[in-house]
Amino acid sequence: MVRIAPITPDQLPALTLALCDILIETVGLGASVGFLAPLSLDEARAFWSGICQALARGDRLMWGAWADEALVGTVQIVVGMPGNQQHRVDLVKLMTLPSARGGGIGAALTLAAEAEAARRGKTLVVLDTVAGNPAQRLYERLGYEAAGVIPDYARSSAGPLEATCLMYKRLG
Ligand SMILES: CC(C)(COP(=O)(O)OP(=O)(O)OC[C@H]1O[C@@H](n2cnc3c(N)ncnc32)[C@H](O)[C@@H]1OP(=O)(O)O)[C@@H](O)C(=O)NCCC(=O)NCCS
Repeated sequence: MVRIAPITPDQLPALTLALCDILIETVGLGASVGFLAPLSLDEARAFWSGICQALARGDRLMWGAWADEALVGTVQIVVGMPGNQQHRVDLVKLMTLPSARGGGIGAALTLAAEAEAARRGKTLVVLDTVAGNPAQRLYERLGYEAAGVIPDYARSSAGPLEATCLMYKRLG
């Protein structure tokens, strides 16, 4: 049984090690989530510390997925948008621990983030993902549309440049 719940800035410090595990394993498997492999524990800790500050400022919201009390997945939305884009959020850093993938956790996290965005009156979710990867298929299944593909957008954590697919979904 998987439980999805928000992660507040007060809760995040106690979850840092588990979040570092998810991030380091995800980067180690080649995912393009902003880092090159190998990702050190210090770099991962610094990343989550910055996210904790963004949560405290109210610029982001974050969720976790727990299976048998172990944190196995996470996602964030960026709500701190410019004045003319207050109606939309960016969905970022969707990650499931590799050993827990394929069980619907990624979809459940995405739907939880969307539900809160809709509750706050947001009408558009935007994201980018490596073109043609399993995440793109998951987003398509959840109703996201591809706006276009940008070649050579970012490096995979293993090094080579990869194309990114920009996607969006209207809420409500
Ligand atoms: C993308 C990601 C979050 C999906 O997490 P998940 O918990 O496996 O998500 P789900 O179980 O809801 O869906 C995974 C899809 O892969 C399939 N799958 C089956 N077994 C799988 C396995 N062992 N590993 C991965 N995917 C598997 C699922 O059936 C599903 O396919 P579908 O969308 O065609 O139905 C996860 O693969 C991940 O962390 N990837 C690396 C980080 C990343 O790319 N994040 C997206 C950044 S935009």
